[in-house]
Amino acid sequence: MEIIALPAEMQRWSEAARGRGQTIAFVPTMGFLHEGHLTLMREGRRRASLLVSSLFVNPTQFGPNEDFSRYPRNFERDCAMMSEVPVDVLFAPEPDVMYPPGSQTWVDVSEVTKGLCGAHRAGHFRGVTTIVAKLFNIVNPHVALFGEKDYQQLRAIERMVQDLNFPIVIVPVPIVREPDGLAMSSRNAYLSAGQRKNALALSGALRAAGDAFQAGARQPRELVEAARRWLAKTPEIEVEYVEAVDAKTLDAVDRIERPVVVAIAARLGPTRLIDNMVFAPE
Ligand code: PAF
Repeated sequence: MEIIALPAEMQRWSEAARGRGQTIAFVPTMGFLHEGHLTLMREGRRRASLLVSSLFVNPTQFGPNEDFSRYPRNFERDCAMMSEVPVDVLFAPEPDVMYPPGSQTWVDVSEVTKGLCGAHRAGHFRGVTTIVAKLFNIVNPHVALFGEKDYQQLRAIERMVQDLNFPIVIVPVPIVREPDGLAMSSRNAYLSAGQRKNALALSGALRAAGDAFQAGARQPRELVEAARRWLAKTPEIEVEYVEAVDAKTLDAVDRIERPVVVAIAARLGPTRLIDNMVFAPE
């Protein structure tokens, strides 16, 4: 696997590959890889002749009191895992290369980022869409893959690609779960054994919402109540939000007539976890 640290070099590499008629799939990451990332990468391998990944813990998507400085990092392990896939090129820039002094341009997707996590993490999605737009301009892929675990992020990126005419196909990839149901996340590494057990309440709550849906509930409130009842059984969990919204626009709906996503954000001690499930009527 080739490692490239400079945007101009990455751009040259992509231009040369495109000139040879090759296609490029791209999986951006913040590292500390798990099976969820590898699933994105394997899917990327299937969809193009070359696979590029990036590793950049993006400071602009973390709030002042969030976990940027303690975000888990292990460059050697990540490189070994990527080589196994195999990834052809890892783009791994330094922060001052991505945000040189004087940087002042932001990409802000206004509506789809308002609710859910956007309402609780000021500036987070502006940081995400700005870095993803920069990475798209640097890597210049044909296709880019994003996990449905970060559901609102995926919708914001799809919107950005459409609004800014990026000629890139965005491929959503389903959540990868541990055998007991916990959605895979780099932040699971923060959890103690007890918190890890309690974290199962999130996927349990989504299953409870699913049971309500299967039983005929068609008001979003009924799904939210079922999920909240389940979460309440684990008092160690501090719920940030549980919402059932239109799966495409993330707008509130009165009745479930189109697919809805039930999304949860909750804290176990200092660790913030998110999870979601989509429910589609016949
Ligand atoms: O999902 C992530 O890991 C990050 O938000 C991303 C897309 C790599 C941007 O920093």
